[in-house]
Amino acid sequence: MTPKRFDILGLGCATLDELLYVAQFPLPDSKIRIQRSEKQGGGLCATALVAGARLGASCAYGAMLGFDDISRFVAQNLENEGIDTSLVSWRESASAIRSVIVVDETQATRTIFFERNGEVGAPPDAPDERDIAAARVLFVDHYGGIGNTRAIEIARRLGIPVVADFERADVPEFENFFPLVDHLILSRTFAAKLTGAEAPEAMLRALWNTNRKVVAVTCGAEGVWSLEDGEIRHFAAFPTDAVDTTGCGDVFHGVYAATLAWDFPLAKRMRWASAAASLKARAAGAQKGIPSRAEVEKFAEN
Ligand SMILES: Nc1ncnc2c1ncn2[C@@H]1O[C@H](COP(=O)(O)OP(=O)(O)O)[C@@H](O)[C@H]1O
Ligand SMILES: [Mg+2]
Repeated sequence: MTPKRFDILGLGCATLDELLYVAQFPLPDSKIRIQRSEKQGGGLCATALVAGARLGASCAYGAMLGFDDISRFVAQNLENEGIDTSLVSWRESASAIRSVIVVDETQATRTIFFERNGEVGAPPDAPDERDIAAARVLFVDHYGGIGNTRAIEIARRLGIPVVADFERADVPEFENFFPLVDHLILSRTFAAKLTGAEAPEAMLRALWNTNRKVVAVTCGAEGVWSLEDGEIRHFAAFPTDAVDTTGCGDVFHGVYAATLAWDFPLAKRMRWASAAASLKARAAGAQKGIPSRAEVEKFAEN
């Protein structure tokens, strides 16, 4: 068996988020002062990996990046978090997504403008099978098309669990890779869109197939519902004075993937993931509020 080098190998999107804080979201044809601004890393996959890394998991990013400043920021951000970037596929045609997020501090709303500058996600022909084999868990999102299908098929064949977060179905290959995932965790909004169901229990049953090991639906402050071995369970969210829930779902996935890599039982995975996601909401932006392992452990186990 290939020796394991990573707890989580992530294929999916990584973004540069530019947060602009304003007193009020502007009306058309008006002018507004930016009170402060900051740059943070974001994106489903990158945020999940940062959550895993802060928890102490060894993480690697293996999707495409380009030769532009946005890609460089994204790679640097991952490296600053101790995430391995040696499996990144550097391609001329690739880039990372840039988002401008306008935070209205009076109404506590956030409006996201995003720009796609090139190919994003898993490349069609990488990472090598032996590098996928070196991961305990594979994490994917809806980016990556055929590369996603390829990597998931390899992982499943090698007995490596695949944790997925999807937010869109109108992407290449979705119908091919969606059924293959064994740990499928979706937000309620997207699960509702996919299944047409209203109750989390009905969504879980509709999302089940013979490849599934665990299906879960996250419902914000209402917590999360899971289905495993025919049993539906509910896990409450941890109360928080939420400043910004951007990235809560991504953090949930990252902590779930890390604790799955460590063979934690389902209830403990759910508890730690919920605790970390709730702690994340303390700070604005996808990644700033992501807690350390000590914080998660204390919050989850008390
Ligand atoms: N307001 C909140 N209070 C406490 N926990 C939250 C809150 N919002 C999100 N969470 C936590 O984050 C998880 C994912 O959030 P959710 O909103 O369902 O997904 P997404 O961020 O993908 O839309 C929830 O299951 C919960 O554990
Ligand atoms: Mg989400």
